[in-house]
Amino acid sequence: MTPLSDRQSDAFDNPAKMGCREGNLRVLREAAFLLWEDGDRTRLRCDWCELMGATGLLTLDLLEHQGVLAPGGFVGIDLDLSRIEGFRQRRPDLKWVAGNLYERLEAPELANVGILNLDEYGEVANRSAPVDFPLIRGLVQRGLDTFGEFALFWNQDLDAVVRRRQDRGQSLRRHADMVCEALKSCLPRRELTSGMLLPEGSEDQIDAGFVGVLGAFEVYRGSVRGHRMANLRVILR
Ligand SMILES: C[S@@+](CC[C@H](N)C(=O)[O-])C[C@H]1O[C@@H](n2cnc3c(N)ncnc32)[C@H](O)[C@@H]1O
Repeated sequence: MTPLSDRQSDAFDNPAKMGCREGNLRVLREAAFLLWEDGDRTRLRCDWCELMGATGLLTLDLLEHQGVLAPGGFVGIDLDLSRIEGFRQRRPDLKWVAGNLYERLEAPELANVGILNLDEYGEVANRSAPVDFPLIRGLVQRGLDTFGEFALFWNQDLDAVVRRRQDRGQSLRRHADMVCEALKSCLPRRELTSGMLLPEGSEDQIDAGFVGVLGAFEVYRGSVRGHRMANLRVILR
């Protein structure tokens, strides 16, 4: 791993990205309990689904190194068929899906998913998100029915919105609104609100260059001089 990051060449293999992966596992340990087999939260009882890219094995390595995965409890998915074929040959003991997650939600490999790392790197509040994201509702509902909990991590590019002359803070607000709308009536106990995910007034902080945790979002710099990312982490129950 390189000590300094260059988003052009190592966007997904740098210390900031590793910190993000570790943060997902930390939040799972701190905030989820029904997804774990045991009270000590050492072993998961659901499958972890990862959008792979070239570097998704780094997530798998972390989870295996920590010994948290259920046996065979990792599902890797990617749009790139040959990439998935390579992973399948390397790790035939795990589950692999080639194709678009939003079109493969009923794949048998996804039946036991309780954690989704939707590590897309699209722009926050991009135009296709209101069409695509609500489709994962069925996956979330299935996980809630099976485990009583579902963990969703959704990592998107925050600063990329300036290319379309959009305000970053307002874009992240629209992103949070859209997540709440898509998951409406999904949770048995309460409704998610935009303010729960992103506290009121966060927009100004975001526009002023904030890095850190704001509500359910961790805003971090994907590389030393690169864009800020907004990683949503929610444990739904
Ligand atoms: C940022 S990379 C994933 C990085 C990886 N999770 C890691 O920790 O290094 C994003 C990958 O997601 C894949 N992807 C994006 N949208 C997808 C979708 N709707 N279905 C399946 N794969 C998708 C892309 O092909 C890309 O390779």
